Amino acid sequence: MIEHRPEPQWVSVETFLTDVVVRPDSPLTNAVTSAVDAGMPPIEVAPNAGKLLKLLVQLSGARRVLEIGTLAGFSTIWMAQGLPDDGDLVTCEYLPKHARVARRNVDAAGVGHRVDIRVGAALDTLPGLQDDSRGPFDFVFIDADKENNPHYLEWAIRLGRPGTVIVMDNVVWEGAVLDPSLDEVNAPGIITALEMMGADPRLDGTVMQTVGSKGWDGFALALVK
Ligand code: SAH
Ligand code: DHB
Ligand code: MG
Repeated sequence: MIEHRPEPQWVSVETFLTDVVVRPDSPLTNAVTSAVDAGMPPIEVAPNAGKLLKLLVQLSGARRVLEIGTLAGFSTIWMAQGLPDDGDLVTCEYLPKHARVARRNVDAAGVGHRVDIRVGAALDTLPGLQDDSRGPFDFVFIDADKENNPHYLEWAIRLGRPGTVIVMDNVVWEGAVLDPSLDEVNAPGIITALEMMGADPRLDGTVMQTVGSKGWDGFALALVK
């Protein structure tokens, strides 16, 4: 992780936008507090990004969502709130403790019946989704260990279909995409995944840079052709 020092103005503006436009409900804000209380890292998406995920789920008409990287379930709840009644979401989380906190949070948010949490390294649990015929997923959110982003992108295509929407978080990483020496663990996977988005004939993509409480970062949006 690269330490980010958000400009105070970015954070004030984000707070304003969150209060006036985004308006997360109390189960969502409680999910963030629960993660702090449990000593988990504060690395969930910002509320305005979470709301964007919900809207993208709705705009794409997604019924089946796949998430890689659950943490306390903040992004999970946002996306599940965008699903229709018969929709469902599978989320992959490595740490059992995170999965337990997330289970409580998605249940408290009233979307627990739509959420299946698969515990383990995602590269070990993703093949099971194929075996269980859980796909094709209409929408995939990639937000776990950045080293494996190229593999997760490949899995998103494999478990998706033409028209599947893929969102990848943290693709600017405080500018480390231009200077991998800033983070030799995570930057290479982020860069390779971006190169794949640009060059792979199965994908069409773009990236939005973001600033706010989470520092300087960005998310990639891609469509499976
Ligand atoms: N999407 C969440 C944040 C996820 S943080 C939100 O915005 O609310 C990244 C999560 O990925 C952490 O909980 C971490 O434990 C998990 N993770 C790390 N490596 C993983 C792996 N190999 N497989 C699955 N999850 C992993
Ligand atoms: C980290 C992971 C994230 O998904 C994120 O949005 C911010 C930070 C991290 O592992 O440091
Ligand atoms: Mg992230």
